[in-house]
This record gives sequence, structure tokens and C-alpha cells, in this order.
Amino acid sequence: MESLPQLVIGQVLRISGYGIALVLISVVLNVINQLFFYSKNEPPVVFHWFPILGSTISYGMDPYQFFLSCRRKHGDIFTFILLGKKTTVYLGTDGNEFILNGKLKDVNAEEVYGKLTTPVFGSDVVYDCPNSKLIEQKKFIKFGLSQEALESYVPLIEEEVKQYVKTSGHFKGKSGTIDLGAVMAEITIFTAGRTLQGDEVRAKLTSEFADLYHDLDLGFSPINFMLPWAPLPHNRKRDLAHARMREIYLEIIRARRKAGTTEESQTKDMIWNLMRCAYKDGTPIPDKEIAHMMITLLMAGQHSSSAISCWIMLRLASEPEMTEKLYKEQTNALGVNLPPLQYSDLEKLPLLQNVIKETLRIHSSIHTLMRKVKNPMPIPGTNYVIPTSHTLLSAPGVTARDERYFRNPLTWDPHRWEERVEVEDESDTVDYGYGAVSKGTRSPYLPFGAGRHRCIGEKFAYLNLDVIVATLVREFRFFNPEDREGVPETDYSSLFSRPMQPATVRWERREA
Ligand code: HEM
Repeated sequence: MESLPQLVIGQVLRISGYGIALVLISVVLNVINQLFFYSKNEPPVVFHWFPILGSTISYGMDPYQFFLSCRRKHGDIFTFILLGKKTTVYLGTDGNEFILNGKLKDVNAEEVYGKLTTPVFGSDVVYDCPNSKLIEQKKFIKFGLSQEALESYVPLIEEEVKQYVKTSGHFKGKSGTIDLGAVMAEITIFTAGRTLQGDEVRAKLTSEFADLYHDLDLGFSPINFMLPWAPLPHNRKRDLAHARMREIYLEIIRARRKAGTTEESQTKDMIWNLMRCAYKDGTPIPDKEIAHMMITLLMAGQHSSSAISCWIMLRLASEPEMTEKLYKEQTNALGVNLPPLQYSDLEKLPLLQNVIKETLRIHSSIHTLMRKVKNPMPIPGTNYVIPTSHTLLSAPGVTARDERYFRNPLTWDPHRWEERVEVEDESDTVDYGYGAVSKGTRSPYLPFGAGRHRCIGEKFAYLNLDVIVATLVREFRFFNPEDREGVPETDYSSLFSRPMQPATVRWERREA
């Protein structure tokens, strides 16, 4: 007679035997399905052994390498399995046009992004409302980013950077080493806090808000694409942080309403701006939605801005002569005493703009833009019709790194933009309801996307980066640590790609 442990072991072996057999059967069926049962009217499917898992790992490790190897086999249009979803990629400028300028009845962003973003941003905004409402919300934000507001932000951003340099403890003495990952994340959140979010939020960023931001950000964990509502510890933290952050914004709004407003203060920051906007039907924006839009602005811009500023400083450290060129550009254009920066100074600094443009070309942190297919979509010039069971994936970063459009595409060369002018074709604009924007999809360079979901923070992002980089270059020279050549590899393991950590650089203070 078998003992209890023997019985248990036997049972476990039997169950694992069934498990292995099941996996093998599903692998065989999956392969047969790919080899013999494909539709000529659908794009080729990237070969994969395991159903559900599909090509998730190859894509997740390095999306660009994955896209290029698939393109070599299948051309610009192919389908791969991403966490069980049939995901059709269409590369190239035609692909960008097809997906990003797709008709509202055919493509939808809410159904792809909403599950992940709603618990973070909150209800009734962005992807938790019909697109027509999002377009109105984008219009409100555009009002808030008026020329006047942007001009007023320049001294505030410069002051924040200088204050950070003085007080953060990272820049003590004449030289040192810093981890840019942490430093640039703090600088960008402080500058955005001070300008877009207003004084009350900025004051809290050094205390309670920083922890709340961290916990809320856990909502962007890649696992949440599948399990956004799972009762996991990181989701519990996310929900508590969201509730507290919303309360903080609501308290600020109530206090401001109670104190009354003046014309001058109304133009100051985004909260004031949103407090005086109303939807088309005359309804003022409810306070809860103002709070959620403010959370959106904080969370949507932070990752991209902090990652790209980190890449800019890494590139400058790897080519110190470029930092010197940027410094000289400022002393030549603005005078050797380098007076406080003003908005009008920025257009006198073309190399600075080109450094930012070139870094966004190679290192944009958003490598994947997705839309759910709502109606079967024939692809012009092919036999393919993309069915409604598919998600579409656009990767404008691929055209930005394409030899056909940019010579030596992976070489970081800000000077290339001196000969090249990416003109936004004025005759090719479209108004989705939040002001005319260039259709843009003919351009191989779309770091801020295109079409109705084009980034609303683009102008602010450029301004913020301009002033941050100009201010740091005035104070310091940057160099690679002795054991590194070039820049670190890219880390694609979170939703927003960024430099592999630690991203250290050495700095040296300029003589007064
Ligand atoms: C360097 C910085 C930034 C980059 C590279 C960037 C890039 C992008 C891209 C590519 C999209 C399009 C997403 C899609 O089509 O699926 C987007 C959308 C968006 N961005 Fe940015 N962004 C940046 C900064 C900002 C900032 C500072 C803000 C806020 C102030 C912001 C707010 C948003 C919002 C709300 C959307 C959603 C728009 C929509 O779906 O209609 N972004 N961004």
C-alpha cells in the first residue's frame, strides 16, 4: 500500500503530465493553424510557438529590432500575437497615415488604453469618455497653453532648475557624479509642477505628492494591460493614491473658488484655466473632471519628458564638445553675462532646438501607438482587410530611424537638422475640434504622434526641455563615466522606454 506522501507525489506527477500534454497539443494545433489555415485577405502572422504568448517576449525586449526583423520577412504589414491579441503592425509613412488618421468609426483608442489609464487618470476624462468629449478637453488644455502662458513659464522653469541645483544635494562642490534617471525625473516633475500645476501643487511635490505620484504610477505597470482591476498590492496603492490626489486637487479648487479670482490670476496656471472653461452645451467642467484632467497632465507628460531629458544629458555627456557648442551658442546670442532666459531667447538658439529634435528622433519613449479596429478596414493597394478582432499598431519611431529618410539613422547628429527642414505643410492641416493641426502623417518624424490623438503637451514639452537643458549647460560641463563609451542601452521593460539604469554622468561646475 502506498503512503500518503507517495500518493501526493503520484497525483502531482499525473497532473503535471496532463499539463505538459495539454501544452504540447496546443503548441501543435497552433503551428498547424499558422501553416495551413491562414486567410489570404489578412496580413501574414509572425510565426510563434505558443498561443496567447505569441511574440510578446521578442516584442517586449526590443520592439524596434522585432519590427525590423518582421519587416525583412513580411514587408510593412504583418500581424503578431501580443498577450493573446492579434496585433496588426503597419510600418512606414503609409502605415502611420492609415492608423493615426483613421476615421473615428474605424479606429478607437479608448478601448485599448482606457483599462490602463482610467484607474490612474480618473473617470470621465481622456479615454473614459467619448472621443468628442476628449476633443473638447484637449481644446481646454490648448487654451491653457496659450502663448502668454508659455512665455510666463520660462523664468519659472529656469528658477526651478537653479533651485534644484542649489538645494538637491546632487550638485555639491566643483564636480561629481549623478544618476540622471533620478535627477531628471525630479527636475521635470518640479518644473511641470511649478508651471502647469500651480503653486499649491508645487509646494506639495517635495512632500506628500511625491509618494502619491510614485504609487499612482504603479498603475502603468505592463501587467495592468491584462489585469488592471486585479486586487494586487500595486493596484491597491494606485487606487488609494488616486483618491488622495483627487481630494488634494478638489481642496485646491474649493479654496480658490472661496478666495475669489482676479483677471491676473486666472491666466496663471492650468487649474485656473479649467475652472473658467465650459463644454459646448454650456456646462462648466465639473470639479471632479478638473481634478482628473490635472492628474492626466501630471502623469501623461512626466515619463516622456523625464526620459527624453535624461537621454539629452547622456548624449551631451558622451559628446562634451556639443555641450560647449550649446554654451557658446548662448553666450554669442544672449551675451557673455548670460542674462535670465526669456521666451524670445529660445528662437535664437537653433542648435539647442536641434539637440532636442535629434534626441526625440532616436530616443522617443513612446514606441507603440495602438488603436482597436471597429469596422473591417481594407488596406489600399493590397488584398488585406483588417478584421474587427484586431488591434492596429503604429510605430512612427521606425520611420524616424529609417535610412531612406535619415542618412546614418542611428547616429546622433543634431547638425543634420540644419540642412533639413521638417516643414509642417500648412495646406495639409486638419481640425479635429481642438484647433488646426498638421495632418503630419506624411512626415517620417512624428515623436508626438499625429491625427486626433496627437500629443497636446508638445509645445510645453519643447519649452520645458529647452529651458532645462539651457540652464544646466550654463552651469555645468558633462562627461561620461570612465567605464562607459557612448550612451547606455535602452530599457524597454516598462511601458515607456528609457535609458538602462544606472544612467550616470560626471559633471564639472563652470568657473563663475
Ligand atoms: C517629450 C515629451 C512628450 C512626448 C514624446 C509625448 C508623446 C506623445 C505621443 C506620441 C502621443 C500620442 C499617443 C497616441 O496617439 O496613441 C501623446 C499623447 C498625449 N500626450 Fe504627450 N508627449 C510628451 C509630453 C506630454 C506632456 C508634457 C503632456 C501634458 C502636458 C502630454 C499629454 C498628452 C496627452 C493628454 C495625450 C493623449 C492625447 C489623445 O489621446 O488625444 N504629453 N504624447
